[in-house]
Amino acid sequence: MLKTLTLTRPDDCHLHLRDGEQMRAVLPDTARRFARAIVMPNLKPPIITAEMALIYREHILAALPPDMRFEPLMTLYLTDNTAPSEIFEGRRNGTIHGVKYYPAGATTNSAAGVTDIARCYQTLAAMEEIGMPLLVHGEVTDPAVDVFDREKSFLDRVLMPLTQRFPQLRIVFEHITTQEAVEFVTGAWGHIAATITAHHMLLNRNAMFQGGIRPHHYCLPVLKRETHRQKLVEAAISGNPKFFLGTDSAPHPRSAKESTCGCAGVYTAHAAIELYAEAFEQAGALDKLEAFASFHGADFYKLPRNKDSITLKKESWIVPSQLSFGNETLIPLRAGESLAWKLIG
Ligand code: DOR
Ligand code: ZN
Repeated sequence: MLKTLTLTRPDDCHLHLRDGEQMRAVLPDTARRFARAIVMPNLKPPIITAEMALIYREHILAALPPDMRFEPLMTLYLTDNTAPSEIFEGRRNGTIHGVKYYPAGATTNSAAGVTDIARCYQTLAAMEEIGMPLLVHGEVTDPAVDVFDREKSFLDRVLMPLTQRFPQLRIVFEHITTQEAVEFVTGAWGHIAATITAHHMLLNRNAMFQGGIRPHHYCLPVLKRETHRQKLVEAAISGNPKFFLGTDSAPHPRSAKESTCGCAGVYTAHAAIELYAEAFEQAGALDKLEAFASFHGADFYKLPRNKDSITLKKESWIVPSQLSFGNETLIPLRAGESLAWKLIG
């Protein structure tokens, strides 16, 4: 039986593209599937000015194969010293679609992130005034807090008070992983939304310890227990426009993942929409995939919905056991294993 699924071309509302040769290696995977992506600014050095974002955007466009169309939507990396004028400049030149808040030390290349959000109040007020979204990596960095509780703790200690102080601030709670985050976003004002990754929909924390330590399943926020995974799936398939697709595809060289101190990040761009299709199908909700993947994010970011489409076919294929990544290799999610859905156009 030929089973196909045609969707309005989706957008990836949370993506790590890196730069240089590494970006060149991964960009076609995303551009084949998505019309646009919200591109994370955690490069070395981070993208902290509107001008840097413009230059990074040019790098991305220059790395795009000539037969592909793709629109990178740039973000700024919030620091203790980001001035309101930088936000205004980002809005004026039309490049900046959001400002990413990494608590300092929370994840990959976050050392220059925010040490205390109170230092950013003036800038947040400017963002609230002009409707610039704050994109939040929601984990506390307090080493006393259990790694599996860091999202919930951030919600209680930082995010809830922030939404009281800045009631009109547009916020995307990125890559949510817990029931508490789902409940918070569901009950919050309409301008507070969340992205959900395919890997957090498909895997629970057992996947990190399946027969041994599995570094390629390690990301931040870390995978959580099954009950949380189920809540994420419910949110994603609910049809609620506050929840939308953001892969958080985060490539690292194999050597950096398979190490005594392995980096956080799961690479999913090679099969991003296929993985979401699998998760939605498992939940009996394939009919809800298009709005989640192609409408809700565009609507939140006040962008026109895409006009063209992509088509997936229900046909099993094997994910390559590794991909090239500049001078290194990259291990994609489900390497050497089969996927049920295949992109055919
Ligand atoms: O797992 C992750 N990888 N989480 C992040 O927040 C950052 C990302 C990366 O850049 O590698
Ligand atoms: Zn990310």
